Parts: sequence; structure tokens; C-alpha cells
Amino acid sequence: MRIWVPLDAAAKAMGADEVAGALARALPDARITRNGTRGMIWLEPLVEVERDGVRYGYGPVAPEDATSVAEAIRSGGAHPLSLGPVEDLPWMRGQMRLTFARVGVIDPLSIAEYEAQGGLAGLRRAIAAGPGATVDEITASGLRGRGGAGFPTGIKWKTVAGAKAAQKYIICNADEGDSGSFADRMLIEGDPLVLIEGMAIAGIAVGATRGYVYIRSEYPDAIRQMQAAIAVARQAGMLGASVLGSGHAYDMEVRVGAGAYVCGEETSLLNSLEGRRGTVRAKPPIPALEGFLGRPTVVNNVISLASVPWIMAQGAAEYAALGIGRSKGTIPIQIAGNVRHGGLYEAAFGMSLDQIVNEIGGGTASGRPVKAVQVGGPLGAYIPPGDFDVPFGYEELAGREGLLGHAGITVFDDSADMMKLARFAMEFCAVESCGKCTPCRIGSIRGVETIDRIAAGDADAIPILTDLCNTMKWGSLCALGGFAPFPVMSALTHFPDDFSGRGLPRQ
Ligand code: NAI
Ligand code: SF4
Repeated sequence: MRIWVPLDAAAKAMGADEVAGALARALPDARITRNGTRGMIWLEPLVEVERDGVRYGYGPVAPEDATSVAEAIRSGGAHPLSLGPVEDLPWMRGQMRLTFARVGVIDPLSIAEYEAQGGLAGLRRAIAAGPGATVDEITASGLRGRGGAGFPTGIKWKTVAGAKAAQKYIICNADEGDSGSFADRMLIEGDPLVLIEGMAIAGIAVGATRGYVYIRSEYPDAIRQMQAAIAVARQAGMLGASVLGSGHAYDMEVRVGAGAYVCGEETSLLNSLEGRRGTVRAKPPIPALEGFLGRPTVVNNVISLASVPWIMAQGAAEYAALGIGRSKGTIPIQIAGNVRHGGLYEAAFGMSLDQIVNEIGGGTASGRPVKAVQVGGPLGAYIPPGDFDVPFGYEELAGREGLLGHAGITVFDDSADMMKLARFAMEFCAVESCGKCTPCRIGSIRGVETIDRIAAGDADAIPILTDLCNTMKWGSLCALGGFAPFPVMSALTHFPDDFSGRGLPRQ
């Protein structure tokens, strides 16, 4: 009998290690595999048992439930936590899991299971097609940077491929700093081999023989999993002097960042990787031409790189057929905050925010009305329910003064104080600012002070805040200072009562 208990950090936080230990003691003949999460965080720890090729779930299994669940597994009897076949749960049936196809399904460190579930097909096809055709395929797929900026991945690769240099690099940005975002961590913990495969394809495509995965220190499980997967991949010939016998050399290692938010910005990350202080570099030169150690470098997010093997295996046309407008393919949506069903849901671009928040997320956990959602991390705009018809896509959200970012959605109910949240954005920016440019370094501190003036009843401070936000938006060197005005201005625009209720005249 085979039993799965997730090793994902979210499941572990809910007692998955204790549950796995108790099941092993109660069912000594069972084979217990630690898998990634299926993304249904409210059901974690989600225990799965395989019978006749079907996986049946029990969840959420707290450590104190493990003995009775073990008994139900042994006897085949009923249990109040029984969920039936996992693949039939509405959360699973509604998804289009391409990038996350194997997460939660396989043993993350088993090459045999990886390959049996479609792994390595993309790398083999890239080797057969050659570097130029691989870059063309990624360009044709319409894949855009999933870290947040949405820059076309194929064009970035083409720039690096065309640069002349003795050494080029592939750098994976796994410094997932946005609160409410966890797709990178879940992917690395649940299917690290797909990231290695994507990076190897990138290396072959642009002529880079070395790669680094830059992971923030707050992700200790992901760091360990990635290191273990690299060792497995070397053993299997996915990495080394001749990748899968192709004659292309490519190898990689993990580097751990200390956890500054700004080190998720690519040039800060490069400085940190080089052992320097994590401050932003002015662009140009772009990293594609002068990146790590001054050499041409691909810097891509985890999800961008992990999407590549599917595209190479199935073809660009199939990927490009999904989504809306210029947002092609699928996006792993991360639903968090005050929400009944939080977790990771991969779907083609184009679902409305209403579907995501109310149908998939099930509304608030508190049962109170949704007041707003913040899309795209702590520097994303607050979107009110009146705008929930907006389709989930890069341009569509930008059209409502929002941003898709890393596709994290944080839900707030009607008890949220939007002015406090606006103050938090400025405070966050002040704490995390690298200090290189004035609008961000000084503007964020003035922003906190100005919001405090508004809170104290000074109506004259509102136009000053608007002015300051414009200066930060257009004058900052990077997205940290440039995006802090988004939550502030959206809060002020959509929820003026939260600013005027403190003895101020209404706007
Ligand atoms: P950007 O628009 O400056 O650059 C996008 C990417 O395209 C960069 O890698 C840049 O080097 C590259 N690029 C631009 N022109 C190029 C060319 N001609 N050839 C090749 N490459 C080229 O955006 P930036 O500052 O890198 O990222 C901002 C985004 O980061 C925001 O949209 C935000 O959502 C996101 N973000 C994500 C976080 C996370 O935790 N994932 C945290 C904070 C921000
Ligand atoms: Fe540094 Fe902030 Fe300027 Fe970015 S916007 S370069 S984080 S000071």
C-alpha cells in the first residue's frame, strides 16, 4: 500500500511530519512517500492512499487524527475526514495544471517518477531542435516573465543568445518576497526537477554552461530540496559536461540570499550573488548583456523557467492557444489572506477576479463581505468588488490601475482599514528600500508621515500624499519605490471614507 503525506512547508506547519511519523508507526507495511502539496492548503495535511491506481484523500489530518485515519486506511472503512478521489475534488477538476502537473503527484526526488509523468521530454526535444529553434519555440509560445514584469521570455533569451562572451549564465530568481505569494516555493519543494530541466533548456538555448538558483533564506525546505534535486539530476546525467549525452555542458548550484525584499529585483540579486551589498544597479546595461560578473545573463523567475519544459514537450502553439490577449498560457494563482479556500490554483489566463475570489476561494474565511483584494504582492493595487469583472491578465489588470505581479491575491473583509493598509505599504517601502534613489528612500518615510497627518485629521495632507505618490511612481529607480504608490493610491481612490472618516471632510 502506498501513502502520500506532503512535505510542503505549509503542510509541515500544520503537522505533516508528525502525521507521517504516526502513520508509519501504525501501518508498518505501508510505503510512505513525502510529496508536494496539491495546493489545497485548507485541507493540509492532506493524506492520500492509492487503491487500484486511484488516490483517495483524507484531510485535514491533524496529528491527533492520524491513528483513526490509519485504522480507516487499514480497514477500508469510513472516516469523517475522507474526501474521496483527490482528482475528483472541484479544486482539482477546475484546474489546468501544466507547470504544476507533477506537484503533489510524484516523489519530488525520483527521476523515474518524473520521467514516467512526462519529465525530460522537453529537454530531449530542445536538444534535438538545437539552440536557435528552442529560442524560437519559447518566443512563439508567448511565455512572459512570471516574476511580475511580464517581459517576453523568448526575447530575453534571444538577447543573451546573440551576445558574444566566453561565459554566460542562467540565474533563477527564487527570492519570492511578495507576501501572499508561494508558487516558487511550492514548485521547488514539490517538483524541483522541472526547474532544473527548464534551466538546462535555457542554458542550451543561449549557450550558458552555468546556472544559479537564488533562494531566500526564509525557505529552508526549498533550499534543501533544490540541493538534493541537483544531486539527483547530476547522477541522472541531466547536468554535467554533456547534458543527457548531448555534448552541451550545463551545471548549476543553489545560492542563499539573506532575505532582503529588494534582492528579488534582478540587479540587486546579481550584486548579492556577487557577494556585494544588495543595492539596485541602474539599467542599462541590462543583465541580458552585462549581468552576473558582467557577463550575459538570463535572469528568470522560477515559474517562467518551470513552464519551459511543458512548452518544449507539447509545442508553442498548444501553449499560446491558452489565455487571453497578450497573456498566454497558464498562471499559478495564489489565493491567500482572509479567504475560505486558500492555496494555489493553476488556470489559463482570463478568469475573472470574481470567479477566483468567490467561486474558487469561496469568499472570506470570516464569512463577512469581501472589501478588497490586493493583487500582486504588498505593492499591488487594492481592487474593490465593483472591479471584480476584470479578467486575470497583464494588460487587463494594468487597465484598472492594478498589476498582476507574481499572481498572488490577498483577500480582505469589510473590517479592513484601508488607510492602515496604505500606511503599511509606505512603511514596508521605507524598511525595504535599498537607499539608492531619493524618491523611494526619502519619499517612503515622508509617505508614512503624511498618512499619519491624514489620520490625525489634516485634510491638506491628502493632495500632498497624491503628489508624493506621483513622484515616487515616476521618479524611482526600481519597482520597489515605483510600485509603493499603487496600494496607497488605490486605497485612497476606492475607499475615500477610510481616509475621511477621521474627522476629515469627505472627498
Ligand atoms: P522591467 O520591466 O525593468 O524588466 C523586465 C525584465 O526584462 C528584466 O529582466 C529586464 O532585464 C528584461 N529586459 C528588458 N528589456 C530587455 C531587452 N531588450 N532584452 C532582454 N531583456 C530585457 O521589470 P523589473 O524591474 O525587472 O520587475 C518589476 C516587476 O517585479 C514588477 O512588475 C513586480 O510585479 C515584480 N516583483 C515581483 C516580486 C516577487 O516576489 N516575485 C517582488 C517584487 C516585485
Ligand atoms: Fe533602491 Fe528604492 Fe530606489 Fe529601488 S526605488 S533603487 S529599492 S531606493
